[in-house]
Parts: sequence; C-alpha cells; structure tokens
Amino acid sequence: MEAVILVGGEGTRLRPLNQHLPKALVPVLNRPFLSHMIEHLSKHGVNNITLAAGHFSKLLDDFVKDYSNPNLCISVEPEPLGTAGAVRYSVKNPSETFLVLNGDIFSSINISELLQFHNSKKSEVTIALTFVEDPSSFGVVQTNQHERINAFVEKPQQKEDISHWVNAGIYVINPNILENIPFGQFYMFETGLFPNLLKQGYHLYGYKHEGFWIDMGTLPKYFNLNSELLFNFGNDDSIKYGVNCDISETAVLEGPILLGDNVSIGSDSKLIGPVILGNDCYVGGGVEIKNSLIWENVTIDNDSIVNGVIIGSDEVLPSGSEVSNVAIAENNFVQIYD
Ligand code: GDD
Ligand code: MG
Repeated sequence: MEAVILVGGEGTRLRPLNQHLPKALVPVLNRPFLSHMIEHLSKHGVNNITLAAGHFSKLLDDFVKDYSNPNLCISVEPEPLGTAGAVRYSVKNPSETFLVLNGDIFSSINISELLQFHNSKKSEVTIALTFVEDPSSFGVVQTNQHERINAFVEKPQQKEDISHWVNAGIYVINPNILENIPFGQFYMFETGLFPNLLKQGYHLYGYKHEGFWIDMGTLPKYFNLNSELLFNFGNDDSIKYGVNCDISETAVLEGPILLGDNVSIGSDSKLIGPVILGNDCYVGGGVEIKNSLIWENVTIDNDSIVNGVIIGSDEVLPSGSEVSNVAIAENNFVQIYD
C-alpha cells in the first residue's frame, strides 16, 4: 500500500525553532520526527511512502537519500498546492486505495484496523478521528450511528458545538476520489474536497481512534511529545547515554534523561528529567537543567539555570544565564506557554 505524507507546510507555529528546517525534520528523541512516522507505517506493512514537499525540499530530499528505505521518495510541488492538491500532484496513477497523513502527527493508531474498517464499511474516504476537549483548531467531524460522516467543518469560527471528534490528519482514500481534485491547482482536503464530497453524497466514514495522538506543530505540543515519549508514558525514569559522553562524577542526573553522543557535563551540575540533550552539547559546572529539550551542539556555560526550555542547535548560553518557559533559536526567544 502507498502512503503520502504531507510535509509541504510552512510550520509557522514552531518558530523560532524551524526557521531553517521543515517541521517534519525537527528532532524528537534526538532523531527527525519523520523517522518516527515512517517506522510506525512500516510496522503496519506500509513501506511505499511519498513525501509531498514544498518548502525546504532540499533538506527533505537529503533526508530521503540518507534513509535506508528504497521505497521512500519525494515529490516537490512547484508552488504550494494545498493538502489535496499536493496529494493529486504526487500520486499520479493511483490504482489502489492509499493512505494520506499530515506530516506532524504522532499517534498509536492501528493502521491495519483502520484499513479493515475502511473495507468493511465500503467507504470511499475514511478519516481517522481523535477526541479533543477544544475542537476549535481542528477539522470537526460529525458522524451518524453507523460512523458515516455527515458534516466536516474546518476550524469552526462560531462556538457551534457539533462534535469533539476531530480530523486526526490520517485518511484512507479510494483511487477514484482523485478525479475530484483539480490537477496543479491549490486545493484543500479540509475546506474543499471533504465538504464537496459530502454534498455529492460520497461515502465518507470516521474511524474513532482512542489511543495516543498528538499534532506536534506548536511549541507546547512539540515539547509534550518529547517528554511523553521520554517518560515512555509514565513507565520510565531511566538515563540513556550516547557514545563518548563525559559526565563529571559530581554531576547529579535524575531521569528520564536522553543524552546524545559526545555530551559533556561539568562538576556539580544537576539535570532533572525530562531532559534531552542532542549530540555534542557542552554543559559547564554548577548548571541546573530541568524539564528541557536541547538540540545539537549547544553550550550552556557555568552556573546557568535552564527550566522548561527548548534550545535549537548551535546556541550558546553564557555563564550565569537564567531562562525558563522559552524556545530559543538564532537569538530569538519565544514563550512556549502563554
Ligand atoms: N505538500 C503540501 N502542500 N503540504 C502541505 C500544504 C501544501 O500546500 N499545506 C499544508 N501542508 C501539510 C503540512 O506540512 C502539515 O503536515 C499538514 O499538511 C497539515 O497542515 P497543518 O498546518 O499542520 O494543519 P493544521 O494542524 O492546522 O490542521 C490540520 O490538521 C488537524 C489535525 O492536527 C487539518 O487537517 C485539520 O482538519 C486537522 O484536525
Ligand atoms: Mg498540524
């Protein structure tokens, strides 16, 4: 089965972290987010994957070349074509039912079961759904008692409380549906295709996923995803070291902590998890780091206090810095939580 992962958005809500990096490649547990998605798909036997890219396509192309999966390829739109337009552009001759995934979703969804559901309902488009308290920033989906979708409202303006089940950004689509997407034009699933198909009476079904699901496209959610995974959903307070780490004997480490390769931690420093440090990070002496996510090659000099922070690659915090609740990259500081 073929899957298309949409990775062509600008990812503005993760700024300043991803000014030079697509959202899909930001590190999660010290490796590109996309690698987690690809692994999840391949666990369910989906290995034939196309990345539908636009912005930052060079870096995504490099990722594809480095990845050891000959069935992973990339399609680059000449200009942003919208979510549906991007799929139409990248899936040229579909003969089989295929999957589409937003490129910022981490979930425990059982894809095999989703496909079975699609087939058993004789569905033409199946949208995976997830339950949220506040549906206002999602595509809100209403289903009848047979799980057939009768309404799809993208990011409802008014507080019309039609449902708390929202589009989880994972679709199963029959090949004939592609005819409804204009080729080479900007067109969205959420505001174009889905409402139009519903109007025309196509069979759209909603598959309710009740397990873990997160859209990591905002700073708090990106942060949460890393700490949830590091905690292994509450089961793990271990400390994992990369190769060639140099940790002072007087440093105190309380897990869960993940250290990349060549990490150095000076005397009397204290790390209180969840903490992730990428490769080649240098932490001086007397530093305290708590509840933080730090990318590669970051220096945190002596006596600094870092709490609830995300730091992008190659940053330097001089001695005595005190930072909390902020994402730092290229001299930009953006508050993580309001
Ligand atoms: N190739 C391509 N071209 N990809 C695009 C384009 C485009 O023009 N526009 C957006 N994308 C990709 C983004 O990179 C992202 O992976 C995905 O499409 C969804 O875009 P987001 O910007 O993350 O959308 P959202 O989170 O506000 O809303 C979407 O996801 C929600 C679930 O998290 C919608 O699908 C909602 O209906 C849904 O509930
Ligand atoms: Mg998103």
